[in-house]
Amino acid sequence: MNSKLIAPSLLAADFANLQRDIELINQSDADWFHIDIMDGVFVPNISFGMPVLKAITKHAKKFIDVHLMIVDPDRYIKDFADLGANMLTVHYEACNHLHRSLQSIKQHKMQAGVALNPHTNVELLRDCIQDIDMVCLMSVNPGFGGQHFIERTFEKVKQLRRMIEEENATTKIEIDGGVTDKNAEKLVEIGADVLVAGSYVFKAENPKQTITELKKMINK
Ligand code: DX5
Ligand code: ZN
Repeated sequence: MNSKLIAPSLLAADFANLQRDIELINQSDADWFHIDIMDGVFVPNISFGMPVLKAITKHAKKFIDVHLMIVDPDRYIKDFADLGANMLTVHYEACNHLHRSLQSIKQHKMQAGVALNPHTNVELLRDCIQDIDMVCLMSVNPGFGGQHFIERTFEKVKQLRRMIEEENATTKIEIDGGVTDKNAEKLVEIGADVLVAGSYVFKAENPKQTITELKKMINK
């Protein structure tokens, strides 16, 4: 079985000590960097943009998983490729022509991800699931870190896993929002592959140890 991955979200890092927190992740058992880009339109919050991402990728030594919470993401696919994104995830709700966006991401040599808001049914992805490298199920409403996990997500993971198997796809399932030691084990048991963790990691007394423990917990 493939090992289950941890992707700490830098949104919860200390932005005044970003390089320190990036090094912490570099030296930890984490697998990916999860980077949240918000435009204040698709979500009611603004995080950071290209210059900060450029500074991050200069130091980050692991796979860069960029989560775009922006309208009309097609405008910036090339920019994110140039900045070193390995996975580029767009929101289903922000794309008029999702299939075209996915092709464009791949043409730019990145893996293509699609994120679903909590209210969006997983069945809507059936017709392009073969083209999606990863589905990111939002387990909170996007826009902020530190929110409570929406329990209905468990059902969505099961539905999505079933769909991926039925369609013979190899799509990964990522869970984003409110992940802690209380839900991590169950999420991977029912089919999640990648867990994003922001506050749970960075607000912990010992983030590095917290990552190690979470990683062990989901890879028993
Ligand atoms: C929310 C972001 C998440 C967020 C997760 O819009 O997409 O990646 O940083 O933070 P926690 O783990 O604190 O819920
Ligand atoms: Zn995210």
